[in-house]
Amino acid sequence: MAVPNPYETRKLVDEYLLFHFGSPDEILLPAGGPADALGFPVRTVTETLDTASKAGRALDLGCATGRSSFELSRFCEEVIGIDFSDAFIDAARRLGSGQTLEYERLEEGHLRTRLFAVLPFGARPDRVRFETGDAMNLRDDLGTFDIVHAANLLCRLPEPLRLLKRLPSLVNPGGTLILATPCTWLEDFTPPENWPTGRTLDWLRSHLEPTFALERTLDLPFLIRETARKFQWTVSLGSVWKRA
Ligand SMILES: C[S@@+](CC[C@H](N)C(=O)[O-])C[C@H]1O[C@@H](n2cnc3c(N)ncnc32)[C@H](O)[C@@H]1O
Repeated sequence: MAVPNPYETRKLVDEYLLFHFGSPDEILLPAGGPADALGFPVRTVTETLDTASKAGRALDLGCATGRSSFELSRFCEEVIGIDFSDAFIDAARRLGSGQTLEYERLEEGHLRTRLFAVLPFGARPDRVRFETGDAMNLRDDLGTFDIVHAANLLCRLPEPLRLLKRLPSLVNPGGTLILATPCTWLEDFTPPENWPTGRTLDWLRSHLEPTFALERTLDLPFLIRETARKFQWTVSLGSVWKRA
């Protein structure tokens, strides 16, 4: 029986609108919290790429509600954001067209607060196109990219190797590949026979080198709020690769 896709639910769209577009005081209690884990979909771009230099085409795989795609649009001429979820792509497109999206933040039990997501100031939605698609089976005519960004996607794919095998034909020579993964391999998403047998970074190296050279790794913490008093704090493993 097919597992229902959680990323199509209103709950997850709301959680990701807050995750991608909520302000620190909309996410944290007044008492504060791990503020350095906020803004993850901004930091996967700003902490890994030279955002001061202009770039050509960028691809954001598993873009969810689109925040990293909008960040890439600040310095890339063209950005394609692809996600498997129609509900996420619909939200990203509506933000790109200038709509304000109303969503709900769960406080506790039956209590919810109404919030609004808007396009971040300075983003260039005219440069961004969102489409639904499967990162394991991307369309043949996508073309090639100077930047491919895939944050917290790999360990949500049933067959992550299919994406790794496609990457050499997606990234231009000299181009940059940004991967981030919390290495949370779960049977709900990926059958254990498709998990790395050892450390995820070694597995990535064994499949990406020598076509890609690993430039550096970095820790990318992120915070997903479940209720006013319950958060998931996770550290994604970021890696920056140069295409030979
Ligand atoms: C953990 S979320 C990460 C989203 C976003 N990159 C971020 O960092 O906030 C995983 C995303 O991958 C998407 N996804 C799952 N399977 C996919 C697939 N086969 N192809 C494309 N996107 C997929 C989900 O819909 C979801 O938006």
